[in-house]
Amino acid sequence: MKAIILCAGKGTRLRPLTFSNAKHLIPVANKPVLIYGIEAIVDAGVREIGIIVGETGEAIREAVGDGSAWGARVTYIEQREPRGLAHAVSVARDFLGDEPFIMYLGDNLLKEGLREFAETFRRNRPHALILLYEVPNPEQFGIAVLHDGKIAHVMEKPSPAPTNLAIVGAYIFDRNVFDSIARIRPSRRNELEITDAIQDLIERGLTVEPHIVRGWWKDTGKPEDILEANRFILEDIRPGLLGKVDAESQIEGKVIVGQGAEVINSIIRGPAIIGEGSVIVNSFVGPFTSIGRNVRLEGSEIEHSVVMEECVIQHVEGRIDSSLIGRNVVITRNARRPRVFRFVLGDNSVSELT
Ligand code: G1P
Repeated sequence: MKAIILCAGKGTRLRPLTFSNAKHLIPVANKPVLIYGIEAIVDAGVREIGIIVGETGEAIREAVGDGSAWGARVTYIEQREPRGLAHAVSVARDFLGDEPFIMYLGDNLLKEGLREFAETFRRNRPHALILLYEVPNPEQFGIAVLHDGKIAHVMEKPSPAPTNLAIVGAYIFDRNVFDSIARIRPSRRNELEITDAIQDLIERGLTVEPHIVRGWWKDTGKPEDILEANRFILEDIRPGLLGKVDAESQIEGKVIVGQGAEVINSIIRGPAIIGEGSVIVNSFVGPFTSIGRNVRLEGSEIEHSVVMEECVIQHVEGRIDSSLIGRNVVITRNARRPRVFRFVLGDNSVSELT
């Protein structure tokens, strides 16, 4: 079995972060979202991975390299135009050959990984195995209708949705899917939908089986999703203090303090992670917070947030909460009069002041 990870999307809903970074490289608990996918695929016993890249391909290549760091062999496949998920599969045709393959959306996170999913496919050998998850907002997803333990029908974002079983970011197909992709036409949003290819498999009488996710699943397309995913991942971290924590500081609950990091006269209340080389001085870091590499946090309070690498946050009055802060951001206080706010914010930034 091989795998493809789809990473060609631009991440418009995560702007401004995605003006300068690929959405698949946004960190969750200090690890890029895409790396969780690679690890899950390798854990499912699949090492031959094709990553489908678009405009952000260079950054992805730089972050993942040949995949050997995770025990994988990665091939990069370019999808020049964003013509849909099924189109992405068709550009990987030569790479995939005739073997069954996992198709994984690179911005998805799954608590239970893919091992059981891949084992179920190997055992039952359907023509397609589709991961499903019960969601409260099914209109925003591809939806499956089940009958007698099989998938009887799938639809892309129907309204109203007949079930709350969403098609989530992982599928396993055998080579029959290529014929179905060749038979479908672009959808209303002018994309070749993988959901339509699945419906075509069903109509051709091939077996399409469901696999329902038991743990949590998260598509990290929007800022609030990143924060939620960060919360989910931090809940399960294994604590470890590799950096320095001085006698005036307090570490509570599950906390990772990375190598070379320093915690000085501060409280870190887990679950939280402080990245390598970061310095936390006279501050409070509350639950569900990930502080990236080489961040300086001084005289400030923060919780339920993600701060990416190389940021400086100093003497902020009041607590920073539910925030997603990109790389190299500086937030400081200025003692001069008049007391004014000064901002240099990228396009599509959001700042809320109270
Ligand atoms: C895509 C698929 C949809 C699926 C969703 C999962 O939607 O078309 O069937 O439910 O991913 O994240 P998109 O994110 O392209 O709107």
